[in-house]
Amino acid sequence: MGSINASVDFSTRDEGRIALIVMDNPPVNALKHELRAGLVAALAKAAADAAVQAVVLTGTGRFFSAGADITEFGQPRRAPSLIDVIVELDAMTKPVIAAVNGQALGGGCELALGCHWRLAAASARLGLPEIKLGLLPGAGGTQRLPRLAGVARAVEIILSGNPVSAARALADGIVDAVPEGDLLEAALAFARQAVAAGRPLRRARDVTDKIEAARADPKIFETAAAPFLRRARGEQAPQSCARAVRGAFELPFEEGQKQELALFLELLQGEQSRARRHVFFAEREAQKIPDMPAGVQPKPIARAVVVGAGTMGGGIAMCFANVGIPVTIVETEQAALDRGMARIADNYRTTIARGNLTQAEMDKRMAALTPSLDFARVAEGDIVIEAVFEEMGLKQKLFGDLDRVAKPGALLATNTSTLDVDVIARSTARPADVVGMHFFSPANVMKLLEVVRGKATSHEALATAMAVGKRIGKIVAVSGVCDGFIGNRMLARRSTESERLLLEGALPQDVDAVVYDFGFPMGPFAMGDLAGLDVGWRIRKGRGITAAISDALCEAGRFGQKTGAGYYRYDGRTPTPDPEVERIILEAAARAGITRRAISREEILERMVYPMINEGARILDEGIAMRPSDIDVVWIYGYGWPAWRGGPMWYADSVGLRVIRDRLAAYAERSGDASLRPAALLERLVAEGRDFASLATGKTGT
Ligand code: 3HC
Ligand code: NAI
Repeated sequence: MGSINASVDFSTRDEGRIALIVMDNPPVNALKHELRAGLVAALAKAAADAAVQAVVLTGTGRFFSAGADITEFGQPRRAPSLIDVIVELDAMTKPVIAAVNGQALGGGCELALGCHWRLAAASARLGLPEIKLGLLPGAGGTQRLPRLAGVARAVEIILSGNPVSAARALADGIVDAVPEGDLLEAALAFARQAVAAGRPLRRARDVTDKIEAARADPKIFETAAAPFLRRARGEQAPQSCARAVRGAFELPFEEGQKQELALFLELLQGEQSRARRHVFFAEREAQKIPDMPAGVQPKPIARAVVVGAGTMGGGIAMCFANVGIPVTIVETEQAALDRGMARIADNYRTTIARGNLTQAEMDKRMAALTPSLDFARVAEGDIVIEAVFEEMGLKQKLFGDLDRVAKPGALLATNTSTLDVDVIARSTARPADVVGMHFFSPANVMKLLEVVRGKATSHEALATAMAVGKRIGKIVAVSGVCDGFIGNRMLARRSTESERLLLEGALPQDVDAVVYDFGFPMGPFAMGDLAGLDVGWRIRKGRGITAAISDALCEAGRFGQKTGAGYYRYDGRTPTPDPEVERIILEAAARAGITRRAISREEILERMVYPMINEGARILDEGIAMRPSDIDVVWIYGYGWPAWRGGPMWYADSVGLRVIRDRLAAYAERSGDASLRPAALLERLVAEGRDFASLATGKTGT
């Protein structure tokens, strides 16, 4: 409890000459109404107290402040706003020094920018991540940051949303010092010195030297913004962020800030930011297991073992090495082990070449990796992750062996993408310790991790898998056991439908264009070519399933990018539509007796998305996914669903479930494919006038 209110403390140092204002709103010092009001009151107190000569503002814990309280968005705005707080800072006639003790993000960073000087702890990070919530910095950030860091750097920071380290912030002119030793003492000393020297107050709003360059040559701005705007496609926030920053050098401060606020409020009320905010909370919600008994603790993980040094095993091992967890990679063949280690080293070298890793850091990571042909070494692991060939017999045997050799209580995880985790678990005498950990390729890059909870998986094992996932930087979502888990099971519906679209009249480039324009990084056919068409071909053969066009391509040796041809022809990585593919498609359609027709973009989009949503409804009904938002998380982080469209289940609610139900029924009837019939849950929700979101909240009505 602070002396101003529950979130703000005011005290003095140096016999009352320096006021110390501390923000204390755990866990992240979000700037909720009480905190803002407390800051205004504390600043007024410091201003009114004649003895006070300077002010130091800081936060508790790991955070200076993580910014606006996102839970307040969508509610009526309550004064004082954050802008009001910063206006008070601007009005201060006594020096105000921000002691940035930890992360200063969004409004938290803007608050620091509103102070006269900023000192940051070496571990602090500063950033304006609003764009990731479909917003822009709405409390002067787009106006003050360019004045301190220059327009090009401000564009990079605001349009990427990525925070910068204290050292980088110092180099950029965003902070004034990164003192060694005690930050608060340094800030107090800085305050004393500013008073003693009668230093003129440095308001960021009045600093103009760095924006002069862009005023003289707006190309500086255009060049910096162009790559971000190219990537933005249908998303509004990047455009608005760029416009707001442009205002910093084209308009006087007050007008620039007015424009910023108007753009901010427009985004805040828009659908895209609502969707992005949903994703923010969905990601965090996905970590929560409703039936997890209180007090269950994840087991400590000091060392990992990965079995199999192939495509996935290597990437998974890197995830551990990257965060400093020592990892042993166990293989059966020296050649495979050498190949795997060489690929890992290559990956790191590429990262160095891109300027994102130092040689010293690479050496450290490589040193954390121990290759071995000695199976007995699986006994070292607190966690063992299996990534061997996708064959049930092999996995069963391996888990039998793991059971004998792995340390008691170790978490035994399989990276299988299609096999039954419960069957694998039963090949051990400790199925409670077995989970699926389904990584996505490339495993060291892709954010998603589906943790697959088997029938016998214990709470402790589940909690451990989730905690490990978070520790290695993954976004974790839990899936029950079923064919394909959440993501690939839904993807399979899209694949069936995309193949059907080709037979009925579309070409790969038509379908891909619609999916790309929707916001995916690529369409299903370009994605198939990238992943390799032979993978699915082999799985289909094993299961006795056919896919006329994909099979024909594979039979012609067209496996995708790796063979220079698949659904497209490749010159390097650039796809070109191929008349040969069109010929294969026309032949396949003729063989199937299908008269091809023109298919509208609207129909393509519906058929690419609605069958997936339908499958998502089944996945929910069967309890494979715990909540609709978990499905959204899977698709955003595993398959590139555009975050500003909130994920498939959120999108379904925005389209309206009745529309989707009706369209599915029509497609089911036309194709005779029973799997397209509206899922029972979809029917129930439509009948009850509910949406998917109501399943999470219990509230009804779309
Ligand atoms: N508002 C409200 N709640 C917040 C919050 C915020 N800004 N930031 C985090 N939280 C909540 C989380 O929802 C979570 O709640 P839960 O425990 O009930 O699930 C809790 O705080 C802890 O958060 P994390 O689990 O994410 O903790 P981490 O330590 O992993 O990450 C973080 C901390 C980096 C701060 C991360 O939470 C984050 O990125 N937060 C969002 C930061 C942000 O986007 N700020 C800008 C807000 S918009 C703004 O400021 C507008 C302004 O320009 C006007
Ligand atoms: P891969 O063929 O690249 O690698 C498999 C490796 O396992 C080979 O290096 C092989 O020598 C090794 N191996 C085989 N038997 C072994 C044993 N008994 N002990 C130790 N090592 C052994 O295969 P990939 O692509 O890495 O797949 C591995 C697993 O990951 C499979 O279960 C696959 O379904 C799954 N998966 C694959 C994804 C992908 O995109 N490739 C995505 C997600 C999961």
